Amino acid sequence: MKPDVQPKKIVVLSGSGLSAESGLPTFRDSNGLWNEYSWHEVASPEGWETRPDAVLAFYNERRLKAWHALSNSAHAAIASLETAFDVVVITQNVDELHERAGSSNVIHLHGQLAYARSTSNNPKRYRIDDAPILLGQLCEDGTQLRPDIVWFGEETQHMEEARLHMATAAKVLVVGTSLTVHPAASLVKASRGRAEKALVSLEMERIPYGFKFLRGNATSIIPSLVKEWLTRSGAGSNNSFKADASGAA
Ligand code: APR
Repeated sequence: MKPDVQPKKIVVLSGSGLSAESGLPTFRDSNGLWNEYSWHEVASPEGWETRPDAVLAFYNERRLKAWHALSNSAHAAIASLETAFDVVVITQNVDELHERAGSSNVIHLHGQLAYARSTSNNPKRYRIDDAPILLGQLCEDGTQLRPDIVWFGEETQHMEEARLHMATAAKVLVVGTSLTVHPAASLVKASRGRAEKALVSLEMERIPYGFKFLRGNATSIIPSLVKEWLTRSGAGSNNSFKADASGAA
């Protein structure tokens, strides 16, 4: 028995392409991180075992960059949907640009750069903002601190919750993801046939069934799509979505 679709519910599934216009790198584009680094060396449990210093350096650099990045008009437009809809943002991104733009319900499938966790079996989680994690830095249970990031081969977080949200959404917006990493990518299969589904990206190898592909930059496409959705819902939109003027701390 499938759960009921909630008419006012919008689910957004985002990837690194949404933060690209905020100056943060994607992974598989020509200038993506996995063209510069080996994911196996810096984003896997084996890499952590072999060269923890290289893993820490990789995430320390990304944490600082993400901390100083500004949310963009696509983040702002997504946040503005909350004026008329029940919005759940499911993100593969480890930055906090959705939150900075004002989204209040964000599920991070792959962890967050601004947090560290212990390496014990029942990990404790610590907010560290933009601080580096150093080798030898132990948490209260005496284990080495590590980035609170889901590495390749580790269990993606909040998948059941994310799947249920996707299955009850009346509108689904997928933005800035190549949909190549599972199980996150499989979430699109949980969207309902009757839901309105849009996919925004620069290019896609395969467009999931039922999705309308809107090719282009997120900041060019998302604000007008959001304006259309808000207007159709009867909530006028101030249709000018600004990047985060306040900036990071
Ligand atoms: N506007 C819209 N889409 C964009 C933009 C932009 N300005 N720039 C890039 N894109 C699109 C690309 O066309 C591509 O489809 O964003 C997508 C980025 O794909 P990836 O680099 O594969 O990033 P992502 O899908 O987020 O990767 C998923 O892989 O390595 C893991 O954990 C990592 O969460 C990440 C996961």
